[in-house]
Amino acid sequence: TVTTELNETSPEKLLAPVLSAFWDQDRSWTLDVYERHEGYEGLRKALAMSPDEVIAYVKDSGLRGRGGAGFPTGMKWQFIPQGDGKPHYLVVNADESEPGTCKDIPLLFANPHSLIEGIVIACYAIRSSHAFIYLRGEVVPVLRRLQSAVAEAHAAGYLGENILGSGLDVTVTVHAGAGAYICGEETALLDSLEGRRGQPRLRPPFPAVAGLYACPTVVNNVESIASVPAILKNGKEWFRSMGSEKSPGFTLYSLSGHVANPGQYEAPLGITLRQLLDMSGGMRPGHRLKFWTPGGSSTPMFTDEHLDVPLDYEGVGAAGSMLGTKALQCFDETTCVVRAVTRWTEFYAHESCGKCTPCREGTYWLVQLLRDIEAGKGAMSDLDKLADIADNINGKSFCALGDGAASPIFSSLKYFREEYEQHITGRGCPFDPAKSTAWA
Ligand code: NAI
Ligand code: SF4
Repeated sequence: TVTTELNETSPEKLLAPVLSAFWDQDRSWTLDVYERHEGYEGLRKALAMSPDEVIAYVKDSGLRGRGGAGFPTGMKWQFIPQGDGKPHYLVVNADESEPGTCKDIPLLFANPHSLIEGIVIACYAIRSSHAFIYLRGEVVPVLRRLQSAVAEAHAAGYLGENILGSGLDVTVTVHAGAGAYICGEETALLDSLEGRRGQPRLRPPFPAVAGLYACPTVVNNVESIASVPAILKNGKEWFRSMGSEKSPGFTLYSLSGHVANPGQYEAPLGITLRQLLDMSGGMRPGHRLKFWTPGGSSTPMFTDEHLDVPLDYEGVGAAGSMLGTKALQCFDETTCVVRAVTRWTEFYAHESCGKCTPCREGTYWLVQLLRDIEAGKGAMSDLDKLADIADNINGKSFCALGDGAASPIFSSLKYFREEYEQHITGRGCPFDPAKSTAWA
């Protein structure tokens, strides 16, 4: 169901390069190139306002968190208590690990200063003098790039003491995690940052009340913070002129799988997958879309029936899911659904932190059943068992990883139950693995 309308609908107006505007330029990651594109102008505008005005401005822009949940960014900043006498922290979640999600890492690699500028603006707004960037540990080149961008910003007076003569002091610490998916969950991330094993904490209290070192903390995704400078520079009305009323602005969509031209596409929220495929060259030649995910494997899988559902928090987000990370993984008719779901579930079972029983035991059990079905050793009764186990994980686990693991089970059984049955009655997989490149 189309629930929102785009303000701009002609294909040539759909691409809205802002964060990715100069990724293809020589040494795009340097301060020199960033300043040539009016970098740090947003910060200058912010410093001319009061911190509360900056929070109100970001709130009015309608910016919603780009990490997956779409929580209003300005509102999150507003939750930070003022005059409490405690240090406040900003923690940038750069632990991007959701299957299919690959927008923050290219953003950090190509344009790290948009994040650093956003960090200084956010620190000014929430009255923080220390920000942490928690980066996924495997991406060592990005770690080095971030460290050098922080040093560059420091040398130019955009970080450190008395930034641009405003009296604002901001220190940025770049921290590399050790590669656990669960450390992308905001409270597990905070535990990890404090030097403990990363496991989710009970919420409430939310980090805004008791976060890093039990102090008020804003945890924001990389893309959310990196979007703030452009909003300050170009105005909240400019931002609201893109996207839909409740999901305004531009965003990065990561198109992957059996598409002709995989990559990052920056466009307004509310665009549809059909529009994105039209502008990017479609599925690989000679093949058709079979199923896709709107935001990585933690969001339900959809089919070609859903090609016209707006990719925003009211469109696809209202269809019993969240828009998630905008990781559009597209699979064609050569892909075995059971094999795809098995691979995803193996990932969740491996990454389950083990803290709660439904997720720890449930994901393990799901994998055993799925492997049997995939190998032609399943029984029809296994399908109800899969649904029952997923039902006992969903909403009964301690954190969102459990719900995410249940999601592809529910949606694959809903749309592709016949394919599971084929594996069982045919005693094996009806697909030729040589023809599908996705799961080689
Ligand atoms: P959530 O909806 O529970 O929370 C969203 C944010 O709002 C959090 O920062 C939370 O602290 C804040 N919040 C919510 N209610 C609040 C309140 N009453 N007071 C103060 N703050 C409040 O979502 P969650 O569990 O943080 O994230 C789930 C999302 O993460 C999913 O949509 C999933 O797509 C995404 N995800 C992203 C990954 C990635 O690699 N980027 C990996 C895995 C999941
Ligand atoms: Fe850990 Fe899974 Fe429970 Fe989350 S749902 S706390 S990842 S065991």
